[in-house]
Amino acid sequence: MPYQAPRGTHDVLPDEVHLWQFLELTFAQLVESFGYREIRTPAFEDTELFVRTSGDTSEVVTKQMYSFRDKGDRELTLKPEGTAPAMRSYLEHRLGQTGQTTRLWYTTPIFRYERPQKGRYRQAHQVGLELVGSPSPAADAEVIELTVRFYEELGLHGVTVLVNSIGRAAARESYCTALLAHAEPVLRDMETEARAQVERNPLRLLDSKVPEVIEVLRDAPSIVDYLEPDSRAHFGQVCQILDEQSINYTPAPHIVRGLDYYTDTVFEVQSDALGAQSSLCGGGRYDGLIQAIGGSATPAVGVAMGIERAILALQATENALDAPTPDYYGIALDEASARQLRQVATQLREGGARVVVDLDPRSLKSLLKAADRSGADQALIIGESEVSDGTVIVRDLRAGTQVTIPVTQLQHSATL
Ligand code: HAM
Repeated sequence: MPYQAPRGTHDVLPDEVHLWQFLELTFAQLVESFGYREIRTPAFEDTELFVRTSGDTSEVVTKQMYSFRDKGDRELTLKPEGTAPAMRSYLEHRLGQTGQTTRLWYTTPIFRYERPQKGRYRQAHQVGLELVGSPSPAADAEVIELTVRFYEELGLHGVTVLVNSIGRAAARESYCTALLAHAEPVLRDMETEARAQVERNPLRLLDSKVPEVIEVLRDAPSIVDYLEPDSRAHFGQVCQILDEQSINYTPAPHIVRGLDYYTDTVFEVQSDALGAQSSLCGGGRYDGLIQAIGGSATPAVGVAMGIERAILALQATENALDAPTPDYYGIALDEASARQLRQVATQLREGGARVVVDLDPRSLKSLLKAADRSGADQALIIGESEVSDGTVIVRDLRAGTQVTIPVTQLQHSATL
């Protein structure tokens, strides 16, 4: 094979694209029913946008960005996530005014130089939404509720919603000091670079995969005990609204998420079906991001769901959708028949049918084989006598029976 898709990327083939379309349509209809409006941002942005927002200690920025210098000497990066670009656009085009909420949604590729494995890619795709301008706990709850409803509408079971609050800067600072002190026995043995990285952002310890770190953190202090009263009250109200809306969730003090822009609420949804990459989505409140990129202080909260991971989870369910097949496969036995077949196909398509027309004349036997292979329910067969009678043979490919119908009476629903 001379060329293959680059490592960590994949093609979405015709046999699975219907799952992507189903997922994207389900998401769009759901979020539009809550008043979100779609936004599309470029594939690349100024590198600085991501460094400022994701944080220069996050893995996304330190290890995973696809950054390059263009011919005009600009430092650019293929977007590793959708929130910062959406907020850059929000500011650039003044999509919101003080005191007003703006609801945005998107579907986007993201690019991260990660070690590829099942559910983890270098080009992945997300659907996401951002609710900008409201500090209310009801905003956090709306985003979490929407997330849960989305997975429900997809028909995914075995999902767990984990919710936490990581508070504000001051609470995080005192928590980080306590966390570092607690983890000191393992930090002592770490290499200088790894230790320096942990010290720059001790919260990273909480999603460490190193067995010794995981062990020592079993009885680590909990961030919940360090929250300031406002954050504690906010979190309590988010949970109360979720309870009122009958949304099942689990408080999870170890959830911190990998991007540095979060304040207060963070959450993720995990699926049993995914193995190591169990996180279906991640989100939370990010009240400092817009100010960090030059706007006025504006509260915001959002979420992004990995499309590939949702599809893996969907494929693991029993009711995964089958790929759609044609309703009809059209067969013409000569030139004049082909002309009549094209007209019949147009007539049926206007009635909403999916009609594939065979283009290459050969024996009826081979044409019927091609019709079977197409997965169509029925074949339309036209030869010399059908042309002279103005009829078409409609053959049920499953039952092997057929009827001859005048073209004028042929209707998609009537022939089913
Ligand atoms: P994130 O947690 O980095 O958040 O990613 C969200 C989801 O995208 C993950 O839970 C996962 O399903 C999917 N994902 C991320 N990276 C990969 C990958 N390499 N391969 C496959 N799937 C992946 C964000 O991106 C934030 N922008 C979410 C957000 C929106 N926060 C506030 N608003």
